[in-house]
Amino acid sequence: MLQDATKAELRLCSRLKLEESAASQLIAAMREGKSSRGAVVLSPLAAADYLPPFDCIDTSDWGWLPPRVFVPAEGVKPTAFADYASGLYYALDLSSCWESAPLSVVEAPAASLDMCAAPGGKTMLMAARYLPHNHTANEVNAARRGILRQNMEQCGVPNVAVTGLRPDQWAAEGHCFNLLLADAPCSGQSLLCKGIRNPGCLGAQMVNGNAKRQKGILLAAVQCVAPGGHILYSTCTYDPDENEKVMAYILKRVPGWTAVEVPVLAEFRSALADFPCYRLLPHHGFGAGGFCCLLKRNINS
Ligand SMILES: C[S@@+](CC[C@H](N)C(=O)[O-])C[C@H]1O[C@@H](n2cnc3c(N)ncnc32)[C@H](O)[C@@H]1O
Repeated sequence: MLQDATKAELRLCSRLKLEESAASQLIAAMREGKSSRGAVVLSPLAAADYLPPFDCIDTSDWGWLPPRVFVPAEGVKPTAFADYASGLYYALDLSSCWESAPLSVVEAPAASLDMCAAPGGKTMLMAARYLPHNHTANEVNAARRGILRQNMEQCGVPNVAVTGLRPDQWAAEGHCFNLLLADAPCSGQSLLCKGIRNPGCLGAQMVNGNAKRQKGILLAAVQCVAPGGHILYSTCTYDPDENEKVMAYILKRVPGWTAVEVPVLAEFRSALADFPCYRLLPHHGFGAGGFCCLLKRNINS
C-alpha cells in the first residue's frame, strides 16, 4: 500500500508518526471509505428502561461509551424505524460518541454552551449524560441552525436555548459557563474513510486555514468559561496541526489552563503530545476516527 501512496497520504502518515502497518491501514481506510459506524443516543423522550427496537451489539467491555448510547448491529438502519421519527433516539457517528467520552470526568455543569452545535449530536450526548440542565446550543450558520433547532424539538430536549452568536460575540459576554463544547469546524479528513469526497482535505492549505480558525474559536472560548470549568475540544480530522498543536498553542498562550487525563480513554492517548489528549483512527474499529482533549480552567485563574 505504501509503495503507491500519494505524497499527501505519506505526508499525513509521517506527521502522525505512524508505523508502516498503521500507515497502510489508514491509507487503505481513506481509499476504501467503508469505516463509517453508526450509533444512537436516546433522547429525553425515551424512558429510563427504553430499548431501541432493533438488534444492538454488546458494548459492555468498551468502557468509554457514553450513557444511553446504543450501537446497532451490522446492517441495521436505525433511521428506518418509527421510533426515530418520533424522536426517541438520535442517530449519529460512533466516533462522535467517542469524542464525548471526556465528559465522564466532568460533573453536571450548572450552565453549558455547545459553541459549534449543528446538527446537534454533541448536545444530544450532553443531554443524555446530564439532563436536566441549563444548556445553550449555538450555531453560526443560519441554515444549519434551523436543522439544529428542528432536531432539538423532535427529540424533546428541554432547557436548551438555540442561538447563533460568533465565538467573539460570546467572548464579549464574559465568563459564565462551567462547560463549553468546541466541536470545531475542521478539514474533515475522516470523511474520506466514510466514502465522502473531500478534495484538498489532506493539503497544507486546508489544514492551515482550519488550524487558524480553530485557534480563534478557542481563544474566544477560554473567555467564556468560569474558573474550575472545562472546554471539550474535538475534531473529526487526523492532522496534528488541527489537534495536538492547537491544544499546545492554547496551553502555552493562555495561562491557567491544563489538559485533563481521561482514564476511560487511556488506550487512545496520543503519543504526539506531552499532555493528555486522545485520537481515534479507523483501524481501532470504532468508526472513521477523531480527536478530543479536555481542558480545565484552574480554580484560581
Ligand atoms: C463539526 S461541526 C459541529 C457538529 C456538531 N457539534 C454535532 O455534534 O452535531 C462544526 C460546526 O461549526 C460551525 N462553524 C463554522 N465556522 C465556525 C466559526 N468560525 N465559529 C464557530 N462555529 C463555526 C459549522 O457551521 C458547523 O456546524
